[in-house]
Amino acid sequence: MSPRLTARARPLPALAAVMLGLAILAGTLPVGAQGATWVPEIFRDADLALGQRLIREHKCTECHVRNVGGDGTSLYNPKGRISTPGALRGMVDYCSTQLNLGLFPEEVTAVAAVLQRDHYRFTKP
Ligand code: HEC
Repeated sequence: MSPRLTARARPLPALAAVMLGLAILAGTLPVGAQGATWVPEIFRDADLALGQRLIREHKCTECHVRNVGGDGTSLYNPKGRISTPGALRGMVDYCSTQLNLGLFPEEVTAVAAVLQRDHYRFTKP
């Protein structure tokens, strides 16, 4: 083998690895991200960290546990009364009003988005 050929051959495996990496990034990742969990339109921009903090601060779970025992989650949709993401958001809005929590609309959305992700898991609008 001439030194020239050897020198030229070396970058190829590295290039191949980069190309493979790009192919995986371009192809696999977006598909995986979409397939993992569908997010309803009304919760797409929701601030999930804010929702989780509000659920903690307002002791939602504590009161639900007092009502139904366990970890309180059996209270979420026992009879399928809430059947859409919009109805879930409406329920959170209603509770916020009833309990005088004074949540802003985007806070209601954030809380409902967390409940959707963790409990209701609606798969269509
Ligand atoms: C003071 C007690 C209390 C607090 C605090 C409370 N809840 Fe509730 N919540 C209830 C009770 C009781 C029910 C069941 C009402 C019924 O079934 O008619 C309920 C029901 C719900 C439901 C409807 C469940 C379903 O699928 O039918 C949602 C959603 C909900 N609460 C969210 C929240 C959130 C979010 C918070 C905190 C921001 C919260 N609640 C704070 C007592 C409470």
